[in-house]
Amino acid sequence: MTGIILQGSSRSDGDTAAVVKQLAQLLDYEIIDLRLLNFSDYDYLAENSHDEFLPTVRHIVAHYDHIVWATPVYWYSMSALMKRFLDRISDCLRIEKETGRQFRGMSMSLISVSNDERNEAFETPFILTADYLGMSYLGDQHVIVGNDHDIKSQLTAIVRKLKSC
Ligand SMILES: Cc1cc2nc3c(=O)[nH]c(=O)nc-3n(C[C@H](O)[C@H](O)[C@H](O)COP(=O)(O)O)c2cc1C
Repeated sequence: MTGIILQGSSRSDGDTAAVVKQLAQLLDYEIIDLRLLNFSDYDYLAENSHDEFLPTVRHIVAHYDHIVWATPVYWYSMSALMKRFLDRISDCLRIEKETGRQFRGMSMSLISVSNDERNEAFETPFILTADYLGMSYLGDQHVIVGNDHDIKSQLTAIVRKLKSC
């Protein structure tokens, strides 16, 4: 399975980045830091269709069969940056359906990051998105980053799962 990790933190050198770095090494996956991508909010008029969103999605569906969404927990939910990227997938249902259709048959998983436990509903948007796009949802791992928590050991189960697919 060839995979790409979409990093959705508001900082490129924070807790999520530390987790993503280890995950990418363990799985030999590429990383896209969404913070460095030039793309704007979903626009009903698609006047932003020439920003970097569509070329990025075209690249993803052409080269990978698995997407790892890696987001910090911000206000009990995914980051606004990651939500913006998800919102823009509506472009692939409205103005570029051929790209949208290519999600079908791919798979996804979720990594969330915070300094505490996470609520159970957190993964619901990802599970439902996978279902809507015809993708398999392979699971999630919440990683707690802090003094007493080892990142690598928390990634063991999800890495084993993804390597077995
Ligand atoms: C805007 C914002 C909202 C946050 N909301 C939550 C929250 O609801 N629950 C939680 O456990 N931590 C929350 N945190 C803490 C972050 O999840 C935590 O510090 C995380 O490890 C930061 O990852 P980052 O360095 O990639 O941003 C919040 C942090 C920020 C900046």
